[in-house]
Amino acid sequence: MLPCSEACERNKAPILKVLKEVFAASKFVLEIGSGTGQHAVYFAANLPHLIWQPSDQPGALDWVTDRLRLEGPENANMPLALDVRNHPWDVSADSVFSANTLHIMSWQEVEQFFLRVDEVLQQPGRLCVYGPFRYDGVYTSESNARFDQSLRAQDKKMGIRSFEEVDNLARESGLSLIADYPMPANNQILVWQR
Ligand SMILES: C[S@@+](CC[C@H](N)C(=O)[O-])C[C@H]1O[C@@H](n2cnc3c(N)ncnc32)[C@H](O)[C@@H]1O
Repeated sequence: MLPCSEACERNKAPILKVLKEVFAASKFVLEIGSGTGQHAVYFAANLPHLIWQPSDQPGALDWVTDRLRLEGPENANMPLALDVRNHPWDVSADSVFSANTLHIMSWQEVEQFFLRVDEVLQQPGRLCVYGPFRYDGVYTSESNARFDQSLRAQDKKMGIRSFEEVDNLARESGLSLIADYPMPANNQILVWQR
């Protein structure tokens, strides 16, 4: 049986609503950290005007590969082995999407993420990131503060990222923030454009 993330089942419809707007003119979306592949098959099926390219670290590809084999619509490519620490990424895209990855990666990996996005993103291009963030050092909810504590207790490299620090990396990669959507369960969708 394929693994199923309940969070993905809950968040995929609200995220899709935003992606329909943000990726309306996109042709090729590279997803970083596809995990179970639930987002990949759902977004590809509901955004038939574009190609969805999932990816994950080489050791984490089985779930998304199996799901695509069983459920993948025609416009979802088989996943790429892509670790943000390795470069160059052998792909080019007009859009990049990533959900719930920046708080799992170390800060160094987050830096690599933005450097590599700068390399692969075409002009014009959009980057869309879903997940929890802190603003001016303040959590958007008490539950996010507890979540951050539990992440850092599991592994000190993980943690909810500061919006301002992430936005600085994006600017250094030539990206400008064009939208910040508050999402259910105290998450955000941040959209940058070049
Ligand atoms: C919490 S899961 C999120 C999965 C999926 N995007 C979702 O929203 O359910 C974090 C994902 O980030 C991926 N990831 C962590 N470090 C990574 C790295 N260095 N390069 C690429 N992906 C990474 C993990 O393999 C995992 O699939």
